[in-house]
Amino acid sequence: MWRPKAVFINILTLFPEFFASPLSQSILKRALAAGIIRVELTDLRQFAPGRHQVVDDRPFGGGPGMVLKIEPLAAAILSARERHPGIWVALLSPQGRLFKQPVALELARRDKILLVCGHYEGFDDRVQHFIDEEISLGDYILTGGEIPALAILDAVARLLPGTLGDEDSAAEDSFKDNLLKGPQYTRPREFMGYVAPEVLFSGDHRRIAQWRRREALRRTWSRRPDLLHNAELTDADRTYVRLLETREETDS
Ligand SMILES: C[S@@+](CC[C@H](N)C(=O)[O-])C[C@H]1O[C@@H](n2cnc3c(N)ncnc32)[C@H](O)[C@@H]1O
Repeated sequence: MWRPKAVFINILTLFPEFFASPLSQSILKRALAAGIIRVELTDLRQFAPGRHQVVDDRPFGGGPGMVLKIEPLAAAILSARERHPGIWVALLSPQGRLFKQPVALELARRDKILLVCGHYEGFDDRVQHFIDEEISLGDYILTGGEIPALAILDAVARLLPGTLGDEDSAAEDSFKDNLLKGPQYTRPREFMGYVAPEVLFSGDHRRIAQWRRREALRRTWSRRPDLLHNAELTDADRTYVRLLETREETDS
């Protein structure tokens, strides 16, 4: 019998409650219920010794803010490695490799992942010795790793068979094959004078598929031309992109 592959995601955080609402709704809720993703939330504080369970301290050499201490971080990561042998440890940091769709695919192929959320001014840098990689959500600074962890969890879950109702949805998403998805429309056919493209009502599946492919190429070419360098293009695709380029040259 076909069984969906399950991915286990352990999130190390100071704020486990942060995840309650997103995990209890919509597609993530379904994926959890179906066992397609399994999530374990680990409170970093439980690895801090003493009555006050202190997890942060002032930076050596002075400077603003607080730094997450190495002892609880290392203890929590080593405990996860012991409880879940083979777990892939990713630290969330604005200095890591950028989280893009290929990274989501890579993670979706792993069985067990630990996402380590930072807070305050970040981590004591010696955490480097205990992790496998650093992942950044983008070139901006968030207050903590929880939002990046959720984004990663969501993007990975979406790629696992069984999460989405319609299996084609993920296969047709933007960034699949390095192309943006083209425009989509639903009822009504006309709204305030804006009409959905005629071809979509033609019933001619070949024409519709060709239109969609060209729209995806056009959109990618105009909004994210950088993606086209790595896209797998057919001869017909290349001819169409050349046509777009020629049209632009003539217009300008
Ligand atoms: C305020 S940030 C610390 C930023 C750090 N002082 C720096 O300049 O690199 C606190 C934590 O939020 C998380 N974080 C913030 N922005 C992020 C991003 N773009 N991607 C991934 N994690 C991020 C990280 O876990 C980070 O340790």
